[in-house]
Amino acid sequence: MKLITTITEIRKIVTEWKKAGKSVGLVPTMGYLHEGHQSLIQKAHAENDEVVVSVFVNPTQFSANEDLSSYPRNIENDLEKSREAGASVIFHPDVSEMYPEGYNTYIEAFGVTEVLEGASRPTHFRGVTTVVGKLFNIIQPDRAYFGQKDAQQAAVIEQMVRDLNFPVAVVRCPIIREADGLAKSSRNVYLSAEERQAALVLSHALKLAKKMLEQGEKSAATIRHAMTEKIQQEPLAVIDYIKIVDDRTLRDVRVIEAPVLIPIAVRIGNTRLIDNFVFGRTE
Ligand code: PAF
Repeated sequence: MKLITTITEIRKIVTEWKKAGKSVGLVPTMGYLHEGHQSLIQKAHAENDEVVVSVFVNPTQFSANEDLSSYPRNIENDLEKSREAGASVIFHPDVSEMYPEGYNTYIEAFGVTEVLEGASRPTHFRGVTTVVGKLFNIIQPDRAYFGQKDAQQAAVIEQMVRDLNFPVAVVRCPIIREADGLAKSSRNVYLSAEERQAALVLSHALKLAKKMLEQGEKSAATIRHAMTEKIQQEPLAVIDYIKIVDDRTLRDVRVIEAPVLIPIAVRIGNTRLIDNFVFGRTE
């Protein structure tokens, strides 16, 4: 498994692949890979001749009060996990390779970025679209793979690809969960044993919403109220948001008639966790 650190080198490799008529899948990550990332790499491996996994803790998507330096990193583990899952190479550039001295250009999507995660992290998605746009230009993948766990991020990238005509297919992959229902996340390592148990309240609240929807409940307010009560029963949990939105535009829905996304963000101790569930979409 090759670890490539420069743009020149990864471009050379991809150019060779393309000359040989090979298709290329890209799995953009910030590293600290777990089974959730591996499921994206496996899908990319199944659908493409070659797979690039990018590992880059992107500073432009962290705000000044978010601790970029303490974001978990383990490149040895990332190499091993990527190899196991079928990646061809890892692209692991330095910050100075991606944002050299004098860098001053950004991609900004509007409409889907100001709500949900964007409401409390106003510059976050500008950083995500900028780095993903750069990765698309550097690697020129046929397909790029994103987890449904970050449903808003997937919607933002889809909009950017549509609006800016990037010649890449965005593939959304399902959330991977622990056996007890907790969505896999690099941030789960921050949870103490007691917090890890408390964190189950997120998937329990989503299960409750699913049950209510299956029983025919159409009022978003009623479902949100029941989810709020459920989460408030857990003393370590503090709700950031519980929303019911159109799963593509991310606009609030009051009466549930079409497919909806139910995204939630909850603090468990010092760790902010997100999870979600889509109801009513079959394709
Ligand atoms: O989801 C992530 O890990 C990051 O936001 C991404 C897409 C790799 C961009 O830095």
